[in-house]
Amino acid sequence: MCGIFGCVLKDGNAAPLIHAALKRLEYRGYDSVGEATLFEGKLYVKKDRGMIDEVHKVHNLDDLPGTIGVGHTRWATHGAPLEVNAHPHVDCSGQIAVVHNGIIENFSELKLELENRGHTFQSKTDTEVIAHLIEETLKANPSLSLADAVLETVKKLEGSYAVAALSQREPDKIVCVRNESPLVVGINENAIYCASDIPAFLPLTNKAVIIDDGEIVILSLKGYEIKKIADSSLVSREPKLIDWSPEMAVKQGYPHFMLKEIHEQPECLRNTLRVQEHYIDLMSSFLDRARECFLVACGTSYHACLASSYMFSKLAFLATYPVIASEFVEQHGKSVNIDSTILAVSQSGETTDTLAALNCARQRAATVLGLTNAIGSTLTRISRVYICQQSGPEIGVAATKTFTSQLSVLAQLALGLAKKRGKISQDEMDFLKEKLKKLPATVETIIQTQEEKMKQIAKKYKDAKGFFFLGRGISTATAYEGRLKLMEIAYVPAIAFPAGESKHGPISLVEPGFPVVFICPKDETYKTLIGNIMEMKARGASIIAVIEEGDEEVRRLADDYVEVPKGIPEVLSPIPFVIPLQLLAYYMAIERGHTPDTPRNLAKSVTVK
Ligand code: M6R
Repeated sequence: MCGIFGCVLKDGNAAPLIHAALKRLEYRGYDSVGEATLFEGKLYVKKDRGMIDEVHKVHNLDDLPGTIGVGHTRWATHGAPLEVNAHPHVDCSGQIAVVHNGIIENFSELKLELENRGHTFQSKTDTEVIAHLIEETLKANPSLSLADAVLETVKKLEGSYAVAALSQREPDKIVCVRNESPLVVGINENAIYCASDIPAFLPLTNKAVIIDDGEIVILSLKGYEIKKIADSSLVSREPKLIDWSPEMAVKQGYPHFMLKEIHEQPECLRNTLRVQEHYIDLMSSFLDRARECFLVACGTSYHACLASSYMFSKLAFLATYPVIASEFVEQHGKSVNIDSTILAVSQSGETTDTLAALNCARQRAATVLGLTNAIGSTLTRISRVYICQQSGPEIGVAATKTFTSQLSVLAQLALGLAKKRGKISQDEMDFLKEKLKKLPATVETIIQTQEEKMKQIAKKYKDAKGFFFLGRGISTATAYEGRLKLMEIAYVPAIAFPAGESKHGPISLVEPGFPVVFICPKDETYKTLIGNIMEMKARGASIIAVIEEGDEEVRRLADDYVEVPKGIPEVLSPIPFVIPLQLLAYYMAIERGHTPDTPRNLAKSVTVK
């Protein structure tokens, strides 16, 4: 998975603008970077391995000449992160350059064919075949335009791609194509842009055109022309106004996007309460009708699914099966059928594992529903009904604000379903809705009052070799999420499991001083959880507890604690209780000298299996 960007400007230099846009796309991958521009009929390329700032320091990415160009920030799939494998890739003549996000599955066959025709390859990437195929097509038929050559080329490709291509022969155009990898176009009076996502050009324009699978788009100063790849028919599509302000996509004074995004949660939770009732109603009708209902997602989104399975069960008496998307096909692929409903949760709406599970379900005529943060994403296009969680762009690789937004929407959905099924009294409904409304303020209070405390706790445990995260009931999902956050950004090995499982094995790892985080809402599991805390304490563990304000009992047992306000209903508890865990992970990463926004080996949107 990678980020691509391209621009055609009326005047000025494209290179610095591409550089800035790539920085905004860095969350999509950051092991190599490159740019290509056209100036006076000649192609210029700079690229290298390393993060954008490092490469810029060595090569100065801003001094390429020309008003037109493309750029790429890479997360390696084929070929190690090396200079030769960095994009853009060029053809044999050095006249055509391409940047690509996705995977060309049949690239080995194509490469062999092209090599037999005399093409020389520089890299180990799948992408390079695209440049050579365009070259070959133009060689065979020199009267073709670049767009026609790209059209012919992509007909030979199998796999996923968002590609932007430049050629010396038509120095005023960028040609882009899309299949299963995101591609958007941005436009203003002075320029036209293409990118993997909207934040890449958001400071430049708020007018965006979403490109669909199977489409080619030609960008020039005259505007954009979209065609279907299958039959070259013209597609007419007006730009949409994006109401994300450019400020929403920058750090606003925070040292890292992750911290900014943790602090944005009250606002995001307010926005999620604006999700339109009729979408909740429509989606809950599908859930109500389902004979079996799977909740499918990866990573943090899976934890939201896990938490929501408790919500659906407790509020609407609906049994649901949370499934990790990459296992769905193996686990349920054969049994899923027309009576099955799959609710997929994906912040990006582009996660390949999730989309693969949905493809399998759709082939078997199951109903697909989606919850995502990305309108225009593949998930929104393949879902019968989808809900946008309204979190705004999340740049930090670690999901924070998008997790709590997902939980809020899923709680609203469980409530809607409970109402539809007649499983909830009016009083209970009013009570829970009122509590949901108060959550943004509750989260604000937690951040304001507990952040400093978490900073100190992180200082104290910064050298810990491992952590446990434990909860019972719905807090199991909170524990899983706390553990994932700590592992992914602070690189601390951690284990999470339902607290009841300790005695079945994991407790043997505990020795004096081993940190164990307990999630302790005062719900029906509270008394039993106290027993689990005692078990750990008896073996010398250091107890870090997330408790309700004034919970003297756990406070006495804990070595360290942070508090969340009292009186939060069990089904909503993951939202406030996860906040201190996000802060713990963030400050542990800082204490240990890591960059929380760009953890090693990871990318924001995982578009490979
Ligand atoms: O975009 P998605 O919600 O489908 O992404 C799923 C996971 O890749 C994502 O949640 C990942 O686990 C995050 N890095 C967690 O912080």
